[in-house]
Amino acid sequence: MTHPQVFVSDHPLVKHKLTLLRDERTDHRKFRELVREIAIMLCYEATRDLTLVTRTVRTPLAETTGYAVQEDVGLVPILRAGLGMVDGVWEMVPGAQVWHLGIYRDEKTLRPVEYYNRLPVEPTVQLCLVLDPMLATGGSASAAVDVLKNWGVRRIKFVGLIAAPEGIAHLSERHPDVPIHVAAVDDHLNEVGFIVPGLGDAGDRQFGTA
Ligand code: PRP
Repeated sequence: MTHPQVFVSDHPLVKHKLTLLRDERTDHRKFRELVREIAIMLCYEATRDLTLVTRTVRTPLAETTGYAVQEDVGLVPILRAGLGMVDGVWEMVPGAQVWHLGIYRDEKTLRPVEYYNRLPVEPTVQLCLVLDPMLATGGSASAAVDVLKNWGVRRIKFVGLIAAPEGIAHLSERHPDVPIHVAAVDDHLNEVGFIVPGLGDAGDRQFGTA
């Protein structure tokens, strides 16, 4: 995958944890822990270009020049599965706002269906991170970016765990300005729209539903 806006983590810890996440024997509790941990590491990379301002800080020994992040960040989990990516990232960026978007994929058509939208009245952040473990057809992520752009957010990044080539093609064609940060790009989508080899259904595996 050579798309300039796609960033696939090559960090050994991400690779190690992603393998545990894929394992069908990993239980719900461990699965949630791994989603949280990998999300932190991916968002560390996705926030690498945040704008800084300098500020003076006094240590116990001297005054020196330090930095403060200037941009406000919005975390936008796509319900349900994106929820598991919020808490860890929020600990890293405690000033972030969290906006919930409910989008599920119709099992027959594979088209995204928006069912919940809890955005504030106005966009009050400079950067939104759309959080969703799976980028399969790319329909849900594209729909989420549509909502955010129509609402006025200019700088948006997608952060997911596993992408299919089809999802990357769809999202980057529809929103070429949106960088895509993932832990892996898998082989293909199967006939029912699941990423192969993937990890199964990220929502079900986090929340213990069948
Ligand atoms: C999954 C996943 C993404 C979407 C990806 O959600 O979490 O949101 O499908 O598929 P797409 O790229 O083809 O749109 P699902 O619809 O299973 O809902 P859930 O999170 O409530 O389980």
